[in-house]
This record gives sequence, C-alpha cells and structure tokens, in this order.
Amino acid sequence: MSKKLLITGASTGIGADTAIEFAEGNFIFVHYNSSEDAARKVAERVRERGGDAVTVQADLTSEAGCKKLYAEVADRTDALDVLVNNAGGLVRRETVDRVGWDSMLEIFSLNTFSVVMMTRLCIPLLRKGHDSCIVNLTSVAMRTGAPTATIYGASKGAVDSFTRGAAKELAPDIRVNAVAPGVIPTPFHEKYTPPERMEQFRESTPVKHHGSVNQIACTIRFLVENDYITGETIDVNGGLFMR
Ligand SMILES: NC(=O)c1ccc[n+]([C@@H]2O[C@H](COP(=O)([O-])OP(=O)(O)OC[C@H]3O[C@@H](n4cnc5c(N)ncnc54)[C@H](OP(=O)(O)O)[C@@H]3O)[C@@H](O)[C@H]2O)c1
Repeated sequence: MSKKLLITGASTGIGADTAIEFAEGNFIFVHYNSSEDAARKVAERVRERGGDAVTVQADLTSEAGCKKLYAEVADRTDALDVLVNNAGGLVRRETVDRVGWDSMLEIFSLNTFSVVMMTRLCIPLLRKGHDSCIVNLTSVAMRTGAPTATIYGASKGAVDSFTRGAAKELAPDIRVNAVAPGVIPTPFHEKYTPPERMEQFRESTPVKHHGSVNQIACTIRFLVENDYITGETIDVNGGLFMR
C-alpha cells in the first residue's frame, strides 16, 4: 500500500537517503531549510524510482517555521502515514563552561522543540493515515557523553525521552520510535568534525568503521514496517555504545 511520508531535513545526509529508500510507490514531502538544489535532486531521484515527491522549505527553529511546514503539507494532503523527525545538527562545538543561553536555545530549538512541535502539529494527519508512525533521530552522543557536543547530546536525550512518552500517549493510533546513529559521514560532520577527529572516532569504534546513511535509512524503514514496535530507540553505532 502506498504511503505518504514527511521527512524533515531530507535535502542531505540521512534524511535524503531515507527519502530515496522509501521512494518506490510512495509520496514523499522532502523538507529542506537552505539546501534547495539538493532537495530538488532528492525529489527527482524519488520520481526516478517510481515514487512521487514535492519539496517544502522551512526553518524549523521556530514555532512559526514548524507551522509553515505543517500548513504546506496540510494544503496538499489530509492524511500522513509517516513522519520522520530527522532535521537536526550540532550547531556549534563548545564546552559547558562557555555555553550561553542563546546557544542552548538554538540547539534545543533545532533538535528538540522542532521534534515536539512537528509531532504535535501532525497528529491529526497521522491519525487519518494507515499504520501511522513517527521516527525521531537522536544520537549516540546522548548515550556516551560527547565533549564539545554536550548540549547537543542533551537535546537528543530529550528526544529519546519524548519518544517514550509520546509512544504511550499516542497509542494505539500512532507508533513513535527513534534511531540513535553513531558516526555517519554526512555534511553534519563535514561542518563540525575535522578529519583527525573522524579518524579517532573510527579507531574507538569496536567494528573499526563508520556507519553509512543507508544503514540508518534501513533502520528507519524497519521501524516503519514493524507494527509491534513502539517507544523504542534503536542504537546503530558499531558498538560505540552497548547496553
Ligand atoms: N551524521 C551523524 O553522525 C549523526 C549521528 C547521530 C545523529 N545524527 C542526526 O541525524 C539527523 C540527520 O543528520 P545528518 O548527519 O544527515 O546531517 P545533515 O546532512 O547535515 O542533514 C541535516 C538536515 O537538517 C536540516 N536542517 C538543518 N538546520 C535546519 C533548520 N534550522 N531548520 C530546518 N532544517 C534544518 C538540513 O537542511 P538544509 O541543508 O536544507 O539546511 C539537512 O537537511 C540529525 O538530526 C542529526 O542530529 C547524525
């Protein structure tokens, strides 16, 4: 059965690969903020693979931005099957002894508040979908502690906790799960992690290599397709964190 998906941050990295992974036979809202050309290319690749897609722009660091994205989606459909809350980022590297209020707000707005607000806004559309679910992106940083990414890790820890609470509140209509990736080479790291630090991450990973965007996209797909899983966060990190 054809699904309608909204994937936030689908212009690059994990979100882009997730759109392509779900392309065949499905309709995808490819959300982006600044990478318009990249988002268009993702939508084209979705169509080449037998799906359909539209691109939608919004900066999700404010309530107005989240409402703008929701309004554009709701203009085009009265039901959604899947919401992937993927948009996010480190914003900057800084230590706890230097962090300011504005920086905390910026990091939590992008990684936490946008997830809560997009979830809240999309509930009525998801309630009209089929086997509806939400998948949130958290991070290994919330498990292990990540110096210079401590506030980012905390913002992802909040998403992990939100995932369980929302899963209970929204059951049985909407399942809510999360994926916590390890180190995945994407523009995220190109912006904030120098090559020598990437190499240190690789060395300290038990499997001795980084993950791929498709390994995360396939995990998202697994959570979408398995209707016996809700309130779960799946760690995909090469052993960087083990329970
Ligand atoms: N890569 C990793 O190692 C890793 C590890 C753990 C968790 N994650 C999480 O996985 C998710 C995807 O990351 P990625 O690695 O694929 O990074 P990425 O390639 O940098 O993608 C980030 C996406 O988020 C969007 N975005 C950034 N700022 C935004 C804003 N203000 N408003 C709306 N959208 C915004 C970007 O849109 P534009 O480019 O169009 O602006 C882009 O589509 C993030 O939540 C990240 O925290 C990544």
